[in-house]
Amino acid sequence: VRPPGAAPGGGPPCYPSLPLLSSLFPACAAAVETRLDASLDALLPEEARSIERARAERMLEFRAGRHCARRALSALGGAGPVLRAEDRSPVWPAGFVGSIAHTRERMDGWAGAVVARAAEVRSLGLDAERDTPLEEKLWERVLVPEERADLARVAPEERGVLAKVVFSAKESFYKAQHPLSRTFLEFTDARVTLDPASGTFALALLREAGPFPAGRVFEGRWARGAGLVVTSCVIPLAPGP
Ligand SMILES: CC(C)(COP(=O)(O)OP(=O)(O)OC[C@H]1O[C@@H](n2cnc3c(N)ncnc32)[C@H](O)[C@@H]1OP(=O)(O)O)[C@@H](O)C(=O)NCCC(=O)NCCS
Repeated sequence: VRPPGAAPGGGPPCYPSLPLLSSLFPACAAAVETRLDASLDALLPEEARSIERARAERMLEFRAGRHCARRALSALGGAGPVLRAEDRSPVWPAGFVGSIAHTRERMDGWAGAVVARAAEVRSLGLDAERDTPLEEKLWERVLVPEERADLARVAPEERGVLAKVVFSAKESFYKAQHPLSRTFLEFTDARVTLDPASGTFALALLREAGPFPAGRVFEGRWARGAGLVVTSCVIPLAPGP
């Protein structure tokens, strides 16, 4: 999927546009993105305290994520700060759920955040990766045998990038499920099935995680554009445990 305004193949990356990011989430969610070299809102003092002593590049991506998160909150009538838990997950103000992602190369890159009211969505996950093939040495760790069999059925030149989509789908699911289960999951604890025609995926959990039984299926969306693979996972209020 090429978002409006994206550079046609080979041009400098211009990063996903808001319509691309928004298309991955329901209308009740607010999604905000930025380039890391854009002018960014300052961190709030409580946020700054949670990232003291980080290197400049890490500070920049953290600030860009909070910039997006607070602006998304504000679009829904909320306000920061967005603190950081011991396990590194964002702590959203009461009544909101959300997710943050960034990609960085030195002092350049992209950050995005999505927020929804907890009364409307149970949990959200967002992930972004560079749109490059997943290194084959990682396939064993990231993909279950059924996923490798799926990839063997597509054109060889597509396999590596679709493996990256599966990787990102698992990370966006992880970010959505972790606030509810507080459970660390290996990449091989889930099986992802991609539907390239609709840009959706189904993720089947292969083990129990907190409130979620083995076999529970979660849904997400994915899009490729302007040098990035972006994935989303939305855990609805119902059905489910
Ligand atoms: C947590 C994790 C998913 C983050 O992904 P990443 O590609 O390293 O980094 P991203 O830029 O995409 O996202 C980073 C943001 O994720 C958020 N995050 C970190 N830990 C999180 C958690 N446990 N739950 C929810 N969100 C989390 C944070 O907001 C962080 O940004 P910040 O530190 O600036 O606030 C990844 O580091 C990880 O631990 N993966 C292994 C577990 C996994 O994905 N298993 C697959 C199971 S099927």
